[in-house]
Amino acid sequence: MGKAAAVGTAVVVAAAVGVAVVLARQRRRRELELVEGAAAERKRKVAAVIEDVEHALSTPTALLRGISDAMVSEMERGLRGDIHAMLKMLITYVDNLPTGNEEGLFYALDLGGTNFRVLRVQLGGRERRVVRQQYDEVSIPPHLMVGTSMELFDFIAAALSKFVDTEDNGLHLPEGRQRELGFTFSFPVNQTSISSGTLIKWTKGFSINDAVGQDIVSELSKAMERQGLDMKVTALVNDTVGTLAGGRYADNDVVAAIILGTGTNAAYVEHANAIPKWTGLLPRSGNMVINTEWGSFKSDKLPLSEYDKAMDFESLNPGEQIYEKMISGMYLGEIVRRILLKLAHDAALFGDVVPPKLEQPFVLRTPDMSAMHHDSSHDLKTVGAKLKDIVGVADTSLEVRYITSHICDIVAERGARLAAAGIYGILKKLGRDKLPGDGSKMPRTVIALDGGLYEHYKKFSSCLESTLTDLLGDAVASSVVTKLANDGSGIGAALLAASHSQYAEID
Ligand code: BGC
Repeated sequence: MGKAAAVGTAVVVAAAVGVAVVLARQRRRRELELVEGAAAERKRKVAAVIEDVEHALSTPTALLRGISDAMVSEMERGLRGDIHAMLKMLITYVDNLPTGNEEGLFYALDLGGTNFRVLRVQLGGRERRVVRQQYDEVSIPPHLMVGTSMELFDFIAAALSKFVDTEDNGLHLPEGRQRELGFTFSFPVNQTSISSGTLIKWTKGFSINDAVGQDIVSELSKAMERQGLDMKVTALVNDTVGTLAGGRYADNDVVAAIILGTGTNAAYVEHANAIPKWTGLLPRSGNMVINTEWGSFKSDKLPLSEYDKAMDFESLNPGEQIYEKMISGMYLGEIVRRILLKLAHDAALFGDVVPPKLEQPFVLRTPDMSAMHHDSSHDLKTVGAKLKDIVGVADTSLEVRYITSHICDIVAERGARLAAAGIYGILKKLGRDKLPGDGSKMPRTVIALDGGLYEHYKKFSSCLESTLTDLLGDAVASSVVTKLANDGSGIGAALLAASHSQYAEID
């Protein structure tokens, strides 16, 4: 080859290489643009879903005030006996709260969630108060929550009988006396006396059809008889009523009790003149404890999102317990799961494939949600670990973890603010929401609170408290105390069993 030809070839080769390099660069740029475009598109979609969620679940203070007002009108309707009222306002037959003088050995049984507790309390009167208490906790096998009444009560009576067998020398009854029990049954019951009542409906994942409409105490008593256990139920109470009784025993200014646990509810002390004459109930002390059953509250003011509607539709009790489904521990984690699932489907939050585990209803429990929400580590380590364990996605990015934590925040904040609006409603009903018009001092007002959600989900409880202060204003809020009444309901039921003891007159 001549020199000129060689140079020519070199030029052609160089040009070809140059073109190839340019083409490759262009392809890489296009690929990069595509990747960046897809990422930007995914980010845009994530942001859009989050924005929708924030909007749908928002609870501005003005809305909360409207919700409290709606709740107060439903309370009034319920007290009038209007069968269409959202709040049942059940008369509890508790017109005398504990005084502190209660004495003797009493049992309590606390049934209302996936566990039940049996309790033995030695009451020592005004001076010695609760001398000693012992308890046992038993979890209910899931199949018994949807089986028959006999199966459930036989299981409970057997556990109770076993517990009675462990009674030791320190705790015993006077000769010839029958053991007495306060039964905390945390479902809506139409009470027919302090120690009897029929189940209106199940809530919180229980569905035992043959028990609805039955007298719950006679169901338990029959089961105790089958176990050969000689024990008399002298008080049947809701957990809110037990908590109110236990709360009052500890602090005389307690006027209402709220449960924020698997489910939610409130009870408070109502003036006798609010109880309609037709009930034939003339409370001895001029007061009557009312079990509001506020979990069933419904109003078009409630910020009900597509996630709430779908969860309700697929629940065991569609259309019922709407307020409870927006607030309580059984449901908060599930709402978060549904939002994450939407983000996975519509915005590929966890990558191109939707994690199959995330499709499973109730896989994300509220305690896990709480653990993620409280994670303050710089890399959100707990959120990452929970997403790996529960959703099955390892190595999530910081962005995904942050988004998950933000969703927990939105859902918990809505629940806590709605619960605060409910408490504000109760205070309004009691006339304790504003300073007395005559310039007198605002009475100290104590609200007893119990339930795992309130006790353990700190961001929830602190949001509830600050919202309540916000609603009441600082001047009134300084006289209103919210107080954890830890296991008040068990002690409370034992105290009510004592004040309604068959031997009360003798003593
Ligand atoms: C029940 C109430 C109970 C509340 C808290 C609700 O689902 O209807 O009776 O007080 O849960 O346990």
